[in-house]
Amino acid sequence: MTGRIIQGRPIAEKIKDTVKSEVDSFKQLYGYIPSILSIIIGDNPEAHLYLKLRDNACRTVGIKSLHEVLSSDTSENELLDIIKENNASNNIHGMLIQFPLPPHFSLNRIMNTLSPDKDVEGFTPRNLGNLLIGTEHLVPCTPLAVIEILDHEQIDLQGKHVVIVNHSTVVGKPLTALCLNRNATVTVAHVYTQDLMKMTQQADILITAAGVPGLITSHHIKKDCMVIDVSIVKTNEGVSGDVVFSEVLEKASWVTPVPGGVGPVTVACALQNMMRTASIIAKGSNDE
Ligand SMILES: NC(=O)c1ccc[n+]([C@@H]2O[C@H](COP(=O)([O-])OP(=O)(O)OC[C@H]3O[C@@H](n4cnc5c(N)ncnc54)[C@H](OP(=O)(O)O)[C@@H]3O)[C@@H](O)[C@H]2O)c1
Repeated sequence: MTGRIIQGRPIAEKIKDTVKSEVDSFKQLYGYIPSILSIIIGDNPEAHLYLKLRDNACRTVGIKSLHEVLSSDTSENELLDIIKENNASNNIHGMLIQFPLPPHFSLNRIMNTLSPDKDVEGFTPRNLGNLLIGTEHLVPCTPLAVIEILDHEQIDLQGKHVVIVNHSTVVGKPLTALCLNRNATVTVAHVYTQDLMKMTQQADILITAAGVPGLITSHHIKKDCMVIDVSIVKTNEGVSGDVVFSEVLEKASWVTPVPGGVGPVTVACALQNMMRTASIIAKGSNDE
């Protein structure tokens, strides 16, 4: 018997429905619509595609999506000034800095400048630190999407062995904290991991985000493992994840597809976070 395919879209729709009713209540309570600013530097087509997807998602739930499009020769100081200006603006209730950034920008300086209360993506040191000590308030959207999928499948992480193939700040590190906060046993693998297969074969839940199509085969998993494929890679055959889908599906209890798995849930989680920052700004403080 083959495993199940866990589609992300129905999970995303459920989250969006909740956000939409939150936006409606917010409008009634405060008399204005939450406005989120995306700052984008340069003309990276992928970055502009994400911006368009975000605009569409915002429109479906009634959040106003504003843009500040900067040329690729913008200096870091100019960007930091724009962030500071919008930190102080009463008309902006959340901000995102679209990745990838041109190489002359320091992510650390940018994240240390962005107000943690307006940090939709949960990348500022305060929000990442809170996550690490178990206060999950503004959490990075992709790791959050993974947890939403597990919650949707009613998987209790306590005592489960989770293997994460990725140790980036965007995915692997916050996801490790989220899983530890739920009492999972976590193994984190990356490029320098020796014998990846030996690690992944131990997983009750395998979460892979290496960005390497074909990396995870049926030999990498134990029977009935749950597999979440976070990667999104453009190939000549179309968009792909890390997993050799058909053969892994034969052995796993369930697998998320690419596209249509984690991706749509990540977008929905960003909307959820936008409502969180808007509520913090409206209340004038972060209750946590
Ligand atoms: N679904 C979504 O919504 C969503 C959101 C964000 C990102 N993504 C996708 O997720 C993937 C990862 O994104 P990212 O920003 O975290 O990228 P990244 O910074 O390039 O991270 C990739 C990670 O995988 C590790 N890795 C690469 N090749 C490996 C291998 N052969 N064996 C073991 N580990 C390996 C890297 O290790 P080292 O650090 O040691 O090199 C790194 O930790 C990308 O495909 C991206 O498009 C999807």
